[in-house]
Amino acid sequence: MPIRTILLGNGNRGRVYADYIRRHPDQFELVAVADTNGSGDYGDWRKALSKKLRAELVIVALPDRLHYAAGKLALKKGCHVLMEKPIGCTWDECRGLKMLVERTGKYLIPGYVLRHTDQYRKVKEILEAGTIGEVLSIHHLNAVSYPKTAQSFCRGQWAKTDESGPMILTKCSHDLDLIAWWLGDKAISRVVSMGRTKLFKPENAPEGSADTCGSDCPAQCAFREDGEKCVYKCGADVVDYQSTLIETADGPLVNFELEAITARRGRFTRFFGSKGTMLVDEGLVRVREFGKDEVQYEFQAETDAHGGGDDGIMKFIYEELKSGRNRAKEIVEETVLSHYLAFMAELSRRIHKVVCKL
Ligand SMILES: NC(=O)c1ccc[n+]([C@@H]2O[C@H](COP(=O)([O-])OP(=O)(O)OC[C@H]3O[C@@H](n4cnc5c(N)ncnc54)[C@H](O)[C@@H]3O)[C@@H](O)[C@H]2O)c1
Repeated sequence: MPIRTILLGNGNRGRVYADYIRRHPDQFELVAVADTNGSGDYGDWRKALSKKLRAELVIVALPDRLHYAAGKLALKKGCHVLMEKPIGCTWDECRGLKMLVERTGKYLIPGYVLRHTDQYRKVKEILEAGTIGEVLSIHHLNAVSYPKTAQSFCRGQWAKTDESGPMILTKCSHDLDLIAWWLGDKAISRVVSMGRTKLFKPENAPEGSADTCGSDCPAQCAFREDGEKCVYKCGADVVDYQSTLIETADGPLVNFELEAITARRGRFTRFFGSKGTMLVDEGLVRVREFGKDEVQYEFQAETDAHGGGDDGIMKFIYEELKSGRNRAKEIVEETVLSHYLAFMAELSRRIHKVVCKL
């Protein structure tokens, strides 16, 4: 029997999930869609959850600030939840959802699509096989790219920390999830993070620049988007660079960098182990065991449907819910760890101190 599913939020992400459901009627059945833009059966998400609709799964693809409330209600209704990331905008919200999962036994699966790609599954497999020995350190870079930063983090819905959460949470939850996954059960001992908002401030706007981009703006800068607000005058408080060191008690030291203003977009990781190194670039994994030739693996690029992760996560949910086992507590534990890292890093950045726990 297909899994009866309610979709909350029929925007970019919601449509990706709805598309999978349409292509796999044997796995999922869409019983209702809610979106205030008029594209669903219901407007506000609360209406869809207040009806007596029989559903096993609720997909929350709403703006960040609505995740917690929608997830909470869906879990209380006895549904499993696929929740777009982040699961909450504050640490208290994340902890609250974890407790609810523990109480209800229902799944809360975050939209961490990268875990469900062939590329990152291979990386995990190589780490677990011990091919590069004990991992001593990990360098991970998320290069956001200057057009993406301008569009989503200066002009878009993630421009202001108070409204959606810090950029390390809103842009880097995939990275922190991957890091948490790679670290496995290694306990986090210390986090220190530095970063600042330097570039996108009104005082840095080119001289004489207009408030709105267009052919009449004398600056014609690289961030120009006709009809949109000047990136320097959006009031965004996102960082343009943030560097975070994560120390584990007896595991690797992680150096995670968020670079917002880059020419190329992507994620780049280097693992340094006692027996070799592994480099992960967009669609390419290169493994070099000391004294041996390099071995390369090629994959679908992340820019293409999240490297297959968009379909991968839905397949995972289907198989997990039909498996007869229940790993809801295990999964929420890992989900919360990635958010914990984000809030620790943000706290450290703000108070200029090393943080050992929240
Ligand atoms: N997993 C990923 O890789 C990934 C990528 C991008 C975005 N996201 C996350 O997915 C979520 C959605 O992002 P998006 O890019 O699809 O945004 P979006 O703006 O395209 O979609 C959100 C939708 O929610 C609707 N909505 C707003 N308020 C509502 C309400 N009260 N009731 C019902 N519908 C309402 C909007 O009309 C819109 O259609 C965000 O939390 C974002 O952080 C995840």
